[in-house]
Amino acid sequence: MSASPTADEARILSARRLGVATELDDRLPEWNAEEDDVLVCRAVRQETHDVKTFVFSGRAPRRHSYKPGQFITLDLVINGQAINRCYTLSSSPTRPHLIAVTTKRFAGGIVSPWMHETIKPGVEIRAMGPMGEFNCVDHASPNGKYLLLSAGSGITPLMSMARSFHDLALETDVLFLHSARSPADIIFRDEQALMARSTGFRSVPICEGDSPTESWTGLRGRLSLPMLELAAPDFREREVFACGPAPYMAGVRAMLASAGFDMSRYHEESFKFEDLAPVDAAVSPPANTDVVPTYKVEFTRSRRTIEVSADTHVLAAARAAGMRLPSSCTRGLCGTCKSKLVSGEVSMQHQGGIRQREIDQGMVLICCAKPLSDLVIDR
Ligand code: FES
Repeated sequence: MSASPTADEARILSARRLGVATELDDRLPEWNAEEDDVLVCRAVRQETHDVKTFVFSGRAPRRHSYKPGQFITLDLVINGQAINRCYTLSSSPTRPHLIAVTTKRFAGGIVSPWMHETIKPGVEIRAMGPMGEFNCVDHASPNGKYLLLSAGSGITPLMSMARSFHDLALETDVLFLHSARSPADIIFRDEQALMARSTGFRSVPICEGDSPTESWTGLRGRLSLPMLELAAPDFREREVFACGPAPYMAGVRAMLASAGFDMSRYHEESFKFEDLAPVDAAVSPPANTDVVPTYKVEFTRSRRTIEVSADTHVLAAARAAGMRLPSSCTRGLCGTCKSKLVSGEVSMQHQGGIRQREIDQGMVLICCAKPLSDLVIDR
C-alpha cells in the first residue's frame, strides 16, 4: 500500500482529473483481480457519524461488473498482519466506473477503525471478487415485487439492489424496511428519500429511539410482524432479501416462517460484520474417527495443536476445539480464512476465494481444506 503515487500512477490520476472522455470510453476493459488486484481509493464519504463509504476504482480506468448484492474481499495489512475481510458492495453496477463499500466503525474492532483512519483518496488496497450468490439477478422476483430488510450496516447490498432498480427504471415494486438505532444512524437516508420520489420505490426506516437532535416520528421499535403487515400487507407476494447482524436475521427468519411466508423466496447474506465475531457454538465433532486417519494440526500463532480427521475441514475442527479463527462464508468463497500452510498437505475444494498464485505460494482456505498429513498452519 502506498499513499504517494508513482510517476505512472500520477499520470493516471491526472488523466482522471481531466479525462471524462477516457473514463467514459465504452471500450474500457473490465477490472479483473487476476490481472491487477489493486484498487485505488478515489473518495471517502461520511454517511453518518460512524459510517463511511469508501469509493474505489482500478489503477487504470476500468469497468466494474457485478451483480447487486455481491461482495469483494479486501486483502488488508494491519500492523504488519495480513487480514482478509469481505464487504458487500453498496455501489450499483449501473454506475460501473467505481465500486464502493460502506462500513460502520465498530469500537473495539480491528479492521473497521483502521479503515476509517487509514483509507483516504490515493491509498491502494488489494482486493478479490466481486462474487457471491446473494444477489437480485440470480434470485429475481418473478412478479417484480421485492421486500428489502436490513439493519445497521447490513443495508449495503440492499442499497446496491435498490440503486440498480432505480437507475434502470425497471417496473419493480420495491419496499425497503431499514432498522436503525436512531434517526442519526439511518444510512443513505437522503438518497432513499430522493429515490422514493420515483414510483416503484418506498423507503420505511424503523428506529429504536430518538437521536439527541431529532425525535423520531416514524415506525418505532424493532421490526415485528404487525409492523410488517402495516407497511407491506402484500409481503407474502414479495421476494425477500435480508441483511444485518445474526440476531436480526434470526428474528426475520422466524417472523416470516411463522407468518407462512414461502421461505424459498427468502434470501439472506450471512457474513459476520466485524472482526472475530463469535463462531457458531454448534459444530459437530468429526465422525468416524476410528476408520478415517487423524492428523495433528498445529496453529503457530494461536499456539494450539488439535487433532483433525481426514474427512473434516480444518476450520470446522478448530471451531469444535473452541478456537476462534477469522472466517465468513465457510464455503471457500470469500477468502477470509486464508492462511499460510507452513508444512503438510491438504485437499482443498474452494469456490474462487483464493488465487492460483496464492495456492502456488502455499496459501490455503482452511474452511474447505482437509488434511492429508500432519499440518503446520501460520494462524
Ligand atoms: S471462510 Fe470464506 S473462504 Fe473460508
